Amino acid sequence: MAAPPDFLDALATDGFVVLPGWLEPATVAALRAELPSGGNLEGLQRAGVGRGGERRVLDSVRGDWIRWLDGSSPEQGWFLQRMEAIRLDVNRGLQLGVFEVEAHFAVYPPGSGYERHLDAFQSHNPRRLSAVLYLNREWAAADGGELAIFDAAGHEIRRVLPEGGTLVLFLSQRVPHAVLPALRWRASIAAWFRVRGRDCAST
Ligand code: OGA
Ligand code: MN
Repeated sequence: MAAPPDFLDALATDGFVVLPGWLEPATVAALRAELPSGGNLEGLQRAGVGRGGERRVLDSVRGDWIRWLDGSSPEQGWFLQRMEAIRLDVNRGLQLGVFEVEAHFAVYPPGSGYERHLDAFQSHNPRRLSAVLYLNREWAAADGGELAIFDAAGHEIRRVLPEGGTLVLFLSQRVPHAVLPALRWRASIAAWFRVRGRDCAST
């Protein structure tokens, strides 16, 4: 049997893992090209907070604009195929029992971020594993916009630059995180692996 991939160890021990260069630059560029450029938000919708009838847009909590992936380009198909490989790996290695993935593009205008949160806060939330793939070119530390990762006590333990091709995986119920405001437009794909039979599209 093939050896389990290294990222499973880190995920099991720390609850998160950062994989720079996870996706090749040409595919990253093609995914980025699916988004409007130059400060144009056409085809994107403001992301909400909360669920169902409770859903609302709160600029103070999260400032991103989103579009769900539908697999309509070869690059989206390739990304979703690689998510499927991760799904099988985490089910084998960590017994997460996740059976499907949902993913959206996210664009944060300059100055916006996402306050510290868990991706699955309520017990009936079906999200178990979160993945974020960054689509930005030549991101510098001075640009801000890092993903900040916290421990359970709320202490910051890691900052990740949103550089194109980097993938971050973390346990949705356990790892508090935040998007720090950036000086530039910031693009990513966020994906969630879900267990079966619970309600979906929650935050
Ligand atoms: C999210 C999120 C992190 C990022 O969409 O829930 O936390 O770095 N995104 O974009
Ligand atoms: Mn999140």
